[in-house]
Amino acid sequence: MSRIAYVDGRYVPHREASVHIEDRGYQFADGVYEVCAVMNGRLLDEAPHLDRLDRSLRELRIPQPMTRPALLRVLREVVRRNRVRQGLVYMQVTRGVARRDHPFPAHARPVLVVAAKHVNFAKTAARAAAGVKVITVPDQRWARCDIKSVALLPNILAKQAAVEAGAFEAWQVDEDGYVTEGSSTNAWIVTKDGVLVTRQLGNEILPGITRAAILAIAKTSNLKVEERPFTVAEAKSAREAFVTSATSFAMPVIEIDGQAIANGAPGSIARMLFAAYWDKAKIETGVDPDLILGSTFR
Ligand code: PDD
Repeated sequence: MSRIAYVDGRYVPHREASVHIEDRGYQFADGVYEVCAVMNGRLLDEAPHLDRLDRSLRELRIPQPMTRPALLRVLREVVRRNRVRQGLVYMQVTRGVARRDHPFPAHARPVLVVAAKHVNFAKTAARAAAGVKVITVPDQRWARCDIKSVALLPNILAKQAAVEAGAFEAWQVDEDGYVTEGSSTNAWIVTKDGVLVTRQLGNEILPGITRAAILAIAKTSNLKVEERPFTVAEAKSAREAFVTSATSFAMPVIEIDGQAIANGAPGSIARMLFAAYWDKAKIETGVDPDLILGSTFR
């Protein structure tokens, strides 16, 4: 079956899905994006993702391409046309097409692109059951990492470094030695006393939607949480570590820079959070975790 994308008002086959060479997203990375998990054909955490998209647009003074009900119709239509039951949907809004010039163009109209793809979440669950490795790299990004901008050069360099080191993710570290976040995930540890620690919101990290969902789960599970910076050294001697994102959920980390975390196996709190996240997804979307994840995780 051929994939279908939405590009600036039209549903088109992927091979024909293209934007103008003077789209400001292409020339200046002048745009923002969102990635939502699709479960049972429905968008998970739909409202918070769209709220964050609105905020990113506002912060960059890019007009909304359409109303929220219209955007929801497009997102659902792309998911439907691609027959995605489990997967993800990607949406991107750029400032639009204009003759190349640095200032905001006077007459550009924002360009919306939406694509969807299948993801085998059983593989994600198998990865979570095994745990993943993380490396650390200097955080080379700009001062507004709270905006979900398509300007991702430092992030892709960090991720590539991780891949070349045989790791799943790179944790970026600020000048004071504190972990900010992963290249495409938020970073967490669990202290020896069982306290969950993740960096507080601010300009240095993306306000992850999964981060917020996991915080809510932690609260209802009576887990102690501290939103504060932690160093690489603290992480390496932690009881557990994990990362969160729309596509990795709560993914246990078993190694940082080649050093095993605790006994080198996924921690029990991260495992519990992964399962609890899917229980929440079941309530929200009707997805059956046992059917989708296979027997690897539970
Ligand atoms: N990445 N931090 C960064 C830098 C990210 O790019 C992401 C998401 C997150 C986690 O946010 P959320 O829980 O809302 O997915 C944190 C997406 C998945 C991506 O770029 O593909």
